[in-house]
Amino acid sequence: MASNIQIEIGKGKLGILTPVMGAVHTTFMAGVISIRRGLSKPVGSLTQMGTIRLGKRTDNRNPMVKDFVPLADLNDIVFGGWDIFTDSAYEAAMNAQVLDKDLLNEIKDELQEIKPMKAVFDKHYVKKLDGSHVKQGGTKMELANAIIQDIEDFKKKNGCDRVVMVWCGSTEIYIKESDVHSTIEKLEEGLRNNHEDIAPSMIYAYAAIKSGIPYANGAPNLSCDVPGIVELSKQTGAPIAGKDFKTGQTLMKTIIAPGLKARYLGIDGWFSTNILGNRDGEVLDDPENFKTKEVSKLGVLEHILEPSKHPDLYKDLYHKVRINYYPPRGDNKEGWDNIDIFGWLGYKMQIKVDFLCKDSILAAPLVLDLALFLDLAKRAQMKGIQEWLSFYLKSPQTLPGLPPMHDLFDQLKKLENTLRYMMGEDLITNLGQDYYEEDPE
Ligand SMILES: NC(=O)c1ccc[n+]([C@@H]2O[C@H](COP(=O)([O-])OP(=O)(O)OC[C@H]3O[C@@H](n4cnc5c(N)ncnc54)[C@H](O)[C@@H]3O)[C@@H](O)[C@H]2O)c1
Repeated sequence: MASNIQIEIGKGKLGILTPVMGAVHTTFMAGVISIRRGLSKPVGSLTQMGTIRLGKRTDNRNPMVKDFVPLADLNDIVFGGWDIFTDSAYEAAMNAQVLDKDLLNEIKDELQEIKPMKAVFDKHYVKKLDGSHVKQGGTKMELANAIIQDIEDFKKKNGCDRVVMVWCGSTEIYIKESDVHSTIEKLEEGLRNNHEDIAPSMIYAYAAIKSGIPYANGAPNLSCDVPGIVELSKQTGAPIAGKDFKTGQTLMKTIIAPGLKARYLGIDGWFSTNILGNRDGEVLDDPENFKTKEVSKLGVLEHILEPSKHPDLYKDLYHKVRINYYPPRGDNKEGWDNIDIFGWLGYKMQIKVDFLCKDSILAAPLVLDLALFLDLAKRAQMKGIQEWLSFYLKSPQTLPGLPPMHDLFDQLKKLENTLRYMMGEDLITNLGQDYYEEDPE
């Protein structure tokens, strides 16, 4: 299928900038460095390990994704970021206690060189954090301009050809979309007047997108998911994707729920609870910050199961999500799901899931894939919301009124077909009738 998409070949270095040096971000950076040095494998990354089928099943064309589309090479990536603490990436990774000390010490030289720039931060939005490495004074617009300047300086200093930004920062308090977010003019006015509904994650998003830089939002904050910012992304040609990395319990949910629905099994209730002890868990221990996460997690089942279309099966589903801060576990989360289901004639059954996962290990490859695909999208002149990246996100950003797709396998098909489309290959519908048609004489 011919597409009109022309993809510029990325030459030179790609800067991946993230507001923060937290657990996810340092696990991502340390991971890429150790993969570059041949110490580890990029497990969990579709861009690095994935293959993609092209043409008919009998054609045997299954290239690696990274050989099929022109992605940046891992050796061309340069890292940078902002944080409210002065710790280098090495110290921050040590504090996060996700990766083995031995591995971190082996790549200490490179990690130590990555030092955060001063953050745009306001405790009002993340009650449980306090830090001194913060830009002082000025309006929110002045702070946004300071980030724009930081990006320019980073590009120059590191000789980067291109830059992308991925928010891996803390979850902020719940903010409802309001009038100030509705147009770019109102948003810019709000930035000049320090409007309370503009949180730091939105200031970073504005700065990146204003500069035409691709932006992904790994947390459930509004950030780039408001009409004013979407409008800006179309004006400046920046591809954007949000929100909230799909890892852990929600990943499991979007694997299991489509399967139950495919077999038309009913669900009475889905109770999800988990314990985690990292800084993210501490931040989410505050009810106002948890509320933002809760909204992002709760939408998933509703969209997959579509109770209004299947009232007999899902109308009364009781869905509850709990996150409990429990320091002894650190980044090693344990998530329990109790699913009350029913089958033929309404007979009841239960499914129990106990997922002992490592949050940042699941999230790090998503940072890499989102950054590489957004850079590809930018070079393919794809601007605005990139719904094909929903695969990575818990609460996918779509156009207003367009229901998001949550089923992981639908999302994968969408992603793969987008890559085929970009490269002028036939889309795969899985119809497969042609294999069974008799050869015309
Ligand atoms: N780990 C996962 O599986 C996962 C999944 C989905 C979403 N997330 C989200 O990703 C984000 C990061 O998670 P984490 O485990 O790395 O958390 P973390 O607490 O280890 O790191 C967050 C970092 O953000 C910094 N920060 C906060 N506000 C900032 C600001 N305004 N500017 C600069 N830095 C700022 C903090 O200092 C901290 O270093 C969280 O919002 C989390 O909810 C994580």
